[in-house]
Amino acid sequence: MAANTCCRPILIPSAVSLVVLLLLAATAPAFSSSEGRTLLERLNKPSVKTVQVRHLILYCSFFFIIIFYLRLDLPFAGLIDCVPSHLQPAFDHPMLKGSKPLDPPERPRCHTGDGMADDFVQLWTTSGETCPEGTVPIRRTKEEDILRIEMFGRKPFARVPQSTNVSNHEYAIGLVEGEQYYGAQALFNVWAPQVANRGEFSLSQLWIISGNFSKDLNTVETGWQVYPELYGDSLPRFFVYWTNDSYQNTGCYNLYCSGFVQTNNSVAVGATITKTSTYNDTNLQYVIRITVWKDQKTGNWWLQQGSTVVGYWPSFLFSNLASSGTMVEFGGEIVNIRPSGNHTDTQMGSGHFAEEGFGRAAYISSIRIVDSNDTLIPARNLTYYADNPNCYDVQGGVDNSGESFFYFGGPGRNARCP
Ligand SMILES: *[C@@H]1O[C@H](CO)[C@@H](O)[C@H](O)[C@H]1NC(C)=O
Ligand SMILES: *[C@@H]1O[C@H](CO)[C@@H](O)[C@H](O)[C@H]1NC(C)=O
Ligand SMILES: *[C@@H]1O[C@H](CO)[C@@H](O)[C@H](O)[C@H]1NC(C)=O
Ligand SMILES: *[C@@H]1O[C@H](CO)[C@@H](O)[C@H](O)[C@H]1NC(C)=O
Ligand SMILES: *[C@@H]1O[C@H](CO)[C@@H](O)[C@H](O)[C@H]1NC(C)=O
Ligand SMILES: *[C@@H]1O[C@H](CO)[C@@H](O)[C@H](O)[C@H]1NC(C)=O
Ligand SMILES: *[C@@H]1O[C@H](CO)[C@@H](O)[C@H](O)[C@H]1NC(C)=O
Ligand SMILES: *[C@@H]1O[C@H](CO)[C@@H](O)[C@H](O)[C@H]1NC(C)=O
Repeated sequence: MAANTCCRPILIPSAVSLVVLLLLAATAPAFSSSEGRTLLERLNKPSVKTVQVRHLILYCSFFFIIIFYLRLDLPFAGLIDCVPSHLQPAFDHPMLKGSKPLDPPERPRCHTGDGMADDFVQLWTTSGETCPEGTVPIRRTKEEDILRIEMFGRKPFARVPQSTNVSNHEYAIGLVEGEQYYGAQALFNVWAPQVANRGEFSLSQLWIISGNFSKDLNTVETGWQVYPELYGDSLPRFFVYWTNDSYQNTGCYNLYCSGFVQTNNSVAVGATITKTSTYNDTNLQYVIRITVWKDQKTGNWWLQQGSTVVGYWPSFLFSNLASSGTMVEFGGEIVNIRPSGNHTDTQMGSGHFAEEGFGRAAYISSIRIVDSNDTLIPARNLTYYADNPNCYDVQGGVDNSGESFFYFGGPGRNARCP
């Protein structure tokens, strides 16, 4: 805790920082298109307060501040705007205009989301900052974010399982299908995998799925991801995603389009997760617990992280998921753009294969689903699937209490994965 005291905000000497900020402003990229400008205005809503997110070390030393400022963007993990909750991007949608976010509904029976494993600290709250009641924290989108991202906030390609030829996404997952699923829950071991190329990402998540993969697939997706092109850094982020047409024209990450509704003033989707696991140290393994469930009264899909209800995907976004999921997947996904013809070096999970086990390979555990009786029950008989086990693999099991878990991941390019 000593570090924390040291790291309480110290005011940056204003003359120095002003000069440096002016220099930065002078070198900042400028929009050529009015489209970018309009997008920026649409994404950044009027805020009542702004929190500057800084890497902790910066508070500790004035020298670091100068050095990091001169190396441009480094000291900022970004800005968090506290936006009145009824002005967030979801409320641009005609179905929501003029209304207010809903209060969280009852949680599913046998809910165990509140507890010790849920040690989730976001970088922007480490200096004690929060957003006022009635507002929600939203990560500020900057000009350079938009310039960096080609297909803003959207997955470039659809997932077409078992036929990897048409997709450059690779998966190592466990899944259940064949019943009606009204939600899911799991513990996700957090890592900071290396992402080797622009346009690639590496994530660990759950998918609740219904519909035809090639036509009208509906999904809600959430987990953590490292996606430098989207966020401008290589830190793991808590994210949400959805689509209602097989990733064609609808859906996006976080609040980059009108869709997901945030309801809590202390958790921002897209925010950095501060604690990541350390390879070969079983004492330094971190997890986040994520629960998604359908409120059977309204049809909305709710999201809880640890003990905090984060928000919901309104039911009107969906066609097939308006009833229930027909499949739930858990696991890792990366993008392989095959730079110069070889497989990417992008890591999945810890960057180590499933065989290495606890402390070395990434895992997902305590895997549960919500059944038609609105009860969280252990997911049984998972099917495991890896597109290319020489690059990334998956190995599952059942723990002493009868709950499913699996290890997954890998280094990407290696002797067996050229
Ligand atoms: C994928 O490619 C392999 C060989 O490269 C081929 O045998 C297979 O039929 C292809 N699958 C699809 C769905 O096109
Ligand atoms: C999915 O849609 C495609 C294209 O319309 C169709 O050919 C295929 O049979 C559908 N698959 C299922 C399982 O409904
Ligand atoms: C893991 O740590 C143990 C003990 O600290 C050490 O003996 C071992 O060589 C390490 N293994 C790897 C793969 O780094
Ligand atoms: C946000 O989550 C925190 C932690 O679970 C909780 O104490 C607080 O009441 C929530 N706030 C709102 C506005 O839901
Ligand atoms: C899919 O989402 C879009 C955008 O919100 C919406 O306009 C459309 O009606 C939805 N389609 C279905 C089939 O729900
Ligand atoms: C691609 O892999 C081959 C075989 O491992 C190697 O000879 C070649 O140098 C690699 N190309 C690049 C650009 O790394
Ligand atoms: C539904 O849940 C309730 C409460 O846990 C239980 O009494 C009931 O037997 C369950 N029904 C079914 C069909 O599982
Ligand atoms: C799981 O698989 C085993 C063996 O294949 C089978 O006996 C059992 O009924 C299955 N359980 C469920 C819940 O489907």
